[in-house]
Amino acid sequence: MLEDRLGNRLTTASQAARDAYVEGVDHILAATWGAADAFGRAISADPDFALAQAGLARALMYEGDMGSARATLARARELVGGATPREASHVAIFGLLLQGLAGEARAAVRAHVAEYPRDALAAQVCTNIFGLIGMSGEPGREAAQLAYTTHLMSHYGDDWWLLSVHAQALCEVGRLDEAMAVMERSLALNPANANASHFKAHTLYEAGETAAGRAYLATWVQGYDRRALLHGHLNWHRALWALEQGDEAEMWGLFEDGIAPGSGASLPINVLTDSAALLWRAELAGMEVDPSRWTSLSHYALQFFPDPGQSFADIHAALAHAMAGDGAALARIAGAERGFAADLVRPVADAWGAAARQDWQLALDTLAPVMADHARLGGSRAQRDLLELSYVAMLLKLGRGDEAHRTLRTRRPVFAASPPLADYA
Ligand SMILES: [Fe+2]
Repeated sequence: MLEDRLGNRLTTASQAARDAYVEGVDHILAATWGAADAFGRAISADPDFALAQAGLARALMYEGDMGSARATLARARELVGGATPREASHVAIFGLLLQGLAGEARAAVRAHVAEYPRDALAAQVCTNIFGLIGMSGEPGREAAQLAYTTHLMSHYGDDWWLLSVHAQALCEVGRLDEAMAVMERSLALNPANANASHFKAHTLYEAGETAAGRAYLATWVQGYDRRALLHGHLNWHRALWALEQGDEAEMWGLFEDGIAPGSGASLPINVLTDSAALLWRAELAGMEVDPSRWTSLSHYALQFFPDPGQSFADIHAALAHAMAGDGAALARIAGAERGFAADLVRPVADAWGAAARQDWQLALDTLAPVMADHARLGGSRAQRDLLELSYVAMLLKLGRGDEAHRTLRTRRPVFAASPPLADYA
């Protein structure tokens, strides 16, 4: 029987199908463009290869084509009866994921990984910032993410993919030197891995290495396909650094090149969250933001996230609605009942409403309790600087400069010397 790159047995007799399948898996693990095409070739070589169908379904999910993903996974389910128990469990995980049963899928991945730790495509579902641990809404999820990748390390060893997601987990708990060392090893093994370059950028951001980070990503993205998963998000990181260095021309150029709605191929959650965060952080830095940008983003949020439920997306949609003056849409999120951290979404939405009205005292009072554990809302530390910088900006608006300085020194010391905030002296 043939095996994949990590030694998992595959129910196919076709070497061509196996090779194309491995190629597709590696595209997903590296967040590079070409997964759907590779899985399609695997299916052409062996139409009865269940895992190739499941892989194609996963690739279609990453392209935002959920309808085709469901149809393709249904085909995998029909075929998997003749496959191994590992393959049947693998297909079942993606079934749960496509049904939106995040908690059940998370439990299924944990059980699957306990038995088949080197099934990377299944294990991957619980890694990354937008993975099932990252979006669990549970207290301590950053530590849980690190525990998960640490456990897998003993099964993978010197593997470029696992090293990259382990380094992400290290970065997010603040173990920056280890994160950078692990990431450099991952990049040495596979320089094309966007999950590695992405979190090398995060590690540089957390270390305050603005100029080095900006130069690194500007070079790295030149070899990265515009259609790939992280193209727009990497431009967001570059735009943040341009903002920090006061380069408005580059910041807006990057915004229009893959961040803003309709400008690239990012998933809707990246379009919404990256756009809202950049526009708001530009406002906080004292830059002029055309109100029409907020209006078009609010419309985009209504189209792709009409109902609350994805808490990390919800706080960004609420910001867009608040700044666009759509009180009804904002009120729907401020009353959110659904979502993994709905209890935190509600006060954040209220705080954005107050901030849009420039009622800074109410905004501060409403946001304050969220600051205790906003990691439950999901997203990276860099993404949740939206909240950290807003909180400090509110203090500045109220003339409480001492408290603003002390807050940054205690909560985000990397920004303490010169945060990208207007009127910080
Ligand atoms: Fe990021």
